[in-house]
Amino acid sequence: MTKIVAIVGSPSHPSRTYGIVEYALNLLAENGFEIDIISVRDLPSEDLIFGRYNSPALEPAKALIQAASGLIIATPVYKAAYTGVLKSFLDLLPPKFLSGKVILPIATGGTIAHLLSIDYTLKPVLSELGAEYLLNGVYVVDKQIQRQEDNSFLFDEEIQQRLQKSIQDLEQAIKII
Ligand SMILES: Cc1cc2nc3c(=O)[nH]c(=O)nc-3n(C[C@H](O)[C@H](O)[C@H](O)COP(=O)(O)O)c2cc1C
Repeated sequence: MTKIVAIVGSPSHPSRTYGIVEYALNLLAENGFEIDIISVRDLPSEDLIFGRYNSPALEPAKALIQAASGLIIATPVYKAAYTGVLKSFLDLLPPKFLSGKVILPIATGGTIAHLLSIDYTLKPVLSELGAEYLLNGVYVVDKQIQRQEDNSFLFDEEIQQRLQKSIQDLEQAIKII
């Protein structure tokens, strides 16, 4: 079964970004993909902060990435870029670790002003990690996301359609590569 893994870089819980990723992964699961999720906030913070490249605690997450054909890399925008939490994890991946994988970036932000932050900040980091197959990202602003009483999230119809299209693109790209 083809594996797709999402890396979520929000330090918050509940997290809009995490909610969007769950929606996207559910679509993939319905279509027969094996899905998994790495929430960076759940990894040992000392390993991340002290840059422990060889930490055994990070090996399961690295193994998930290694086995995946496709990745969703999702982050809230913090100060016009991806989060430091996400970077602290990406910094610990071996050189060219993302080579050969199709990658769909997703970002959430409070304002449309930082729409291009995926292109200007995240994509260069992913390229440095060997990513050759970067899909157009999905950017969602907070007002398009509604938090429910049970801490789950609902998304505007337009966002659902954009996510569905991006997931189709991800599935097709994986087939071609
Ligand atoms: C420390 C911090 C910095 C932020 N900086 C920005 C920013 O520069 N641009 C922006 O559009 N939103 C910014 N936001 C808003 C978040 O990107 C937005 O609320 C996002 O949906 C939060 O996602 P989450 O619920 O998954 O953590 C910031 C939020 C925080 C907490």
